Order: sequence, then structure tokens, then C-alpha cells
Amino acid sequence: MEAQVENAKPEKRATATSRRGEADAGQIASVGNNITAANAGWTFGGQTPNHFADHVRRSIPMYAEGHKLACELSDYFVQDGTACYELGSSVGELIAKVATRHAAHQNVRWVGIDSVEAMTLKAREEHGHLGIEFVTSDILRFAFERANLFLSYYTIQFTPLAVRAQLIRKLYDSLLPGGGLIMFEKVRGSDPVAQDLLSSLYVDFKMEQGFHPAEIIAKSKSLKGILNPQTSEENVRALREAGFSSVFTVMRYLSFVGYLAIK
Ligand SMILES: C[S@@+](CC[C@H](N)C(=O)[O-])C[C@H]1O[C@@H](n2cnc3c(N)ncnc32)[C@H](O)[C@@H]1O
Repeated sequence: MEAQVENAKPEKRATATSRRGEADAGQIASVGNNITAANAGWTFGGQTPNHFADHVRRSIPMYAEGHKLACELSDYFVQDGTACYELGSSVGELIAKVATRHAAHQNVRWVGIDSVEAMTLKAREEHGHLGIEFVTSDILRFAFERANLFLSYYTIQFTPLAVRAQLIRKLYDSLLPGGGLIMFEKVRGSDPVAQDLLSSLYVDFKMEQGFHPAEIIAKSKSLKGILNPQTSEENVRALREAGFSSVFTVMRYLSFVGYLAIK
């Protein structure tokens, strides 16, 4: 009898836990800036485009500084009569800054690509007057014309790992000799101690930005299986293996890293 009662207890506990787990998994929670997301359910669609500009600034350390650096680096690559793409252009801020900086250049084709239609529409509304084409498409399927510059500001990290090398190779193949890829990515630490420290300091950063702890946890849960960072070493290796002759880090703050890769 006693054994049967003992056996029954863990079973009951397991049932209660799994029910709670199921409820948590489907729950929509606030991640801040009037954006909500479910466990493993982060999306750049829904309400995100309307609040994206504020949310991204509070979520990515040195967001504005990285844009400034990308603009400065673009001086080495933008030339008359060539194409320049931004991969994952969201509401169009970065490509608008780069295009404005190079307004004196002749016949440059500026293209911002994003897989979320609402992002493209907002980008077009705000920056379409600069002559930038904003296209709704998946960068994995997009047929690029020969280009002198690719900008990718925290976008490639959202592509599946299985196809990432293929994507980087496609970018390399589409670049003209001497062309550049300016790529910013969130990275994992190279060892467990580094990863522990980097994620702990990132939580501190988000707290300083005024996010509630529940919002920080909800955002982290929402990105499961959607944000797939590699280590910085893996990113550099992928760029070199694609064929880029010069690959180096241009900026780093905690897990947020900028690279320049030149064909
Ligand atoms: C972190 S945001 C980019 C921020 C933006 N570059 C900036 O400077 O503000 C990532 C963007 O990439 C887009 N995206 C993610 N995967 C994509 C894909 N496979 N093809 C095209 N766009 C993608 C998302 O919709 C999102 O707008």
C-alpha cells in the first residue's frame, strides 16, 4: 500500500508540472515597448514594426554607434553605377543613412530587403523619397545583382544555421571584386565562462534600459529557436571559407560584434 502511495505522488507532480509547462509555452507576454510575444514565438510582424525603432535601440547596445560606423565604412565601397543592398532593412533607418551620405554619387541602386511586408511598407513610407527600393523578400531566396556593398545589421543571426554558409557564399559571389560586406551579429561566448558573463551583463544592460525583469525573460523565451547566434570565431571562419580575402572585427561590445569582409 505504502509503495503504491509513494509511487502516486511523483506522477501527480509530473502532471501538474506539465500542465503548467503547457500553459507557459502558449502564453503571450510583454517584451516591452508595447510588443508581445509567445515562448519561441518572436516575430518581426504583428505590432513589432510600429514600435521597432524604439525597441531595437533599447535592445542592442551601441545601436546608433554601429550605424555610424557602417556609414563611415561604406565610403570605401559605394561607387557610381553600382548596387548596394541592406539585408533585413526593417523600417529602413540604416540604408536611409547610408544613401543620404552618398547622395552625390550617380546611379547607385539602393535596395532594402525585408521578409516582413509591414516593415517594407513602413520603410517605404518613411524613406522611399530617397530613391531607395524597399522589397519584401526572403534574403535566402533573393537573386542579387552584382553589388559593391552589402549591409547586414543583426539580420543573418535569424537565418537557420543549416543554410547560413550558403547565404554568405551567395553574398560573396554577388559582390564585385573589392566589394564589401558589413555584417553585425549577436554572438555566443567562445567558452562557458565567457557566455555566462556576456549574458549576465546583457541582462544588466536591459535593466538599465528600463525593461522589467519579466519583459527580459519573455523576450529571451520568445527568441528560442529563432535567434541563432554563432561564436565570433565561427562567423569569421564562415566569412573566410566563403572566399573573402580580408575579414576583421570593426566593433565589439559584449555579444554585439561588427565585421567587415572584403572580396
Ligand atoms: C534586427 S532586425 C534588423 C535591424 C535593421 N537592420 C536596423 O539597422 O535597424 C532584423 C530584420 O531582419 C528581417 N529578417 C529576418 N530574417 C530575414 C530573411 N530571411 N529575409 C529577409 N529579412 C529577414 C526581420 O524581419 C527584421 O526586420
